[in-house]
Amino acid sequence: MSKRTIVTMPGDGIGRVVLEETLRVLEAAGFQANYIEGDIGWEFWKKEGDPLPQRTIDLIAKHKVALFGAITSKPKDAAFDELATELKEKNLVYSSPIVGLRQHFGLDICLRPTKSYIGNPLNFIRRGKDGDIEEPAVDAAIFRQNTEGLYGGVEWSNPEPKVYDALMTHPKFVKNFGDTPVEEISVSTRIFTKRSTERILRAAFEHAKKYAYKSVTLCEKPNVIRETSGMMFKMAQQIQADDYPNIELWNTNIDAQMMWLTKNPENYGVIVAGNMFGDIVSDGFAGLIGGLGFAASAQMNPDTGIGVFEPTHGSAPKYADYDVSIVNPIAMIESACMMLDFINEQEISTKIRNAVAEVIATGETKTYDMMKMSGRPNVIEKGAASTQEMASAIIAKL
Ligand code: NAI
Ligand code: MG
Repeated sequence: MSKRTIVTMPGDGIGRVVLEETLRVLEAAGFQANYIEGDIGWEFWKKEGDPLPQRTIDLIAKHKVALFGAITSKPKDAAFDELATELKEKNLVYSSPIVGLRQHFGLDICLRPTKSYIGNPLNFIRRGKDGDIEEPAVDAAIFRQNTEGLYGGVEWSNPEPKVYDALMTHPKFVKNFGDTPVEEISVSTRIFTKRSTERILRAAFEHAKKYAYKSVTLCEKPNVIRETSGMMFKMAQQIQADDYPNIELWNTNIDAQMMWLTKNPENYGVIVAGNMFGDIVSDGFAGLIGGLGFAASAQMNPDTGIGVFEPTHGSAPKYADYDVSIVNPIAMIESACMMLDFINEQEISTKIRNAVAEVIATGETKTYDMMKMSGRPNVIEKGAASTQEMASAIIAKL
């Protein structure tokens, strides 16, 4: 069989080291692939005025599956200052290459699994009713709609007259904002479409069915945000009734959910939400299982078979140039396991996940975050494992 080609996009900062170590783990686990590196991130913004060059888009279109480390992005002024001199007159505007990828390839299904590993010292604990310490086993899979809603980019400050006039046709706008001068108004829209809403809901229910979760929780706010959240809730009820009668549909409000996730996180299985609330609730659950060093994510378009797999964390620039890298590679390694699931290499992903579980359970190898240290070069002297040592420990358990 011919080898598969995977596009690797290390990006900036610690994205580079966590991806490099992940490739070492993949190789040791017996995954055979060719890797082609795709350019992305701040360096390409500075040099070429484009953090997501067309050649990278072409590579992903051709090979379909990509591993992505992390990128750096900076505010508008810094983006301009750091641009190569000859590009400064071109009126270039920086925009996030991650959002660009999602939108270009319609990567509308974002999955962020949050499952606690036994023995992880960062696992969430709470007091039981007799004052004893309980460590609930968290296993929530969060499905986030990845292309619409508040991240759709349809927004204005001081909206032009035809937009303002359109807003003024809404009685609530007139009542609540009609007296405010237009130049004092900023509007960010939250647009949901039936098509995308149905796709994320169905992906969530399918996942629940495939992995035997007993419930799907819609985490929105339909009692207040009646049109978008309300539409999503109605569609969820219909899909559940028609096609998934054996899976329970729960409905929680995002605010209450953020409170409940520290009270009874073990009760939740699959959670599905729009873009913004999905982002929020997935970070909340990630905090229960160890935080950024453990939070993996997949962004997929099941129709085209295109998927981009990345840790949730960013490029952590302050740790990028340490002589010995201290960051935890597990989030990236977990993201690579999601890639393996996506391309039906479950045998290898299971092997890697078991090795990670064993390393965590024995507690012999811990990166600084697992030792609750603050990140400094001297954490290595104090007994923390380096990024490479953690990857090697995982490889040793394969
Ligand atoms: P960050 O996720 O890069 O880092 C925040 C803190 O989390 C770090 O200082 C470190 O203490 C910890 N951390 C992150 N990854 C870790 C790991 N693997 N192991 C152990 N500890 C880890 O977020 P920050 O500092 O807000 O942003 C830094 C840059 O990254 C910015 O330029 C931002 O725009 C970008 N960013 C990129 C993302 C992406 O590429 N998907 C996502 C988030 C931020
Ligand atoms: Mg986030």
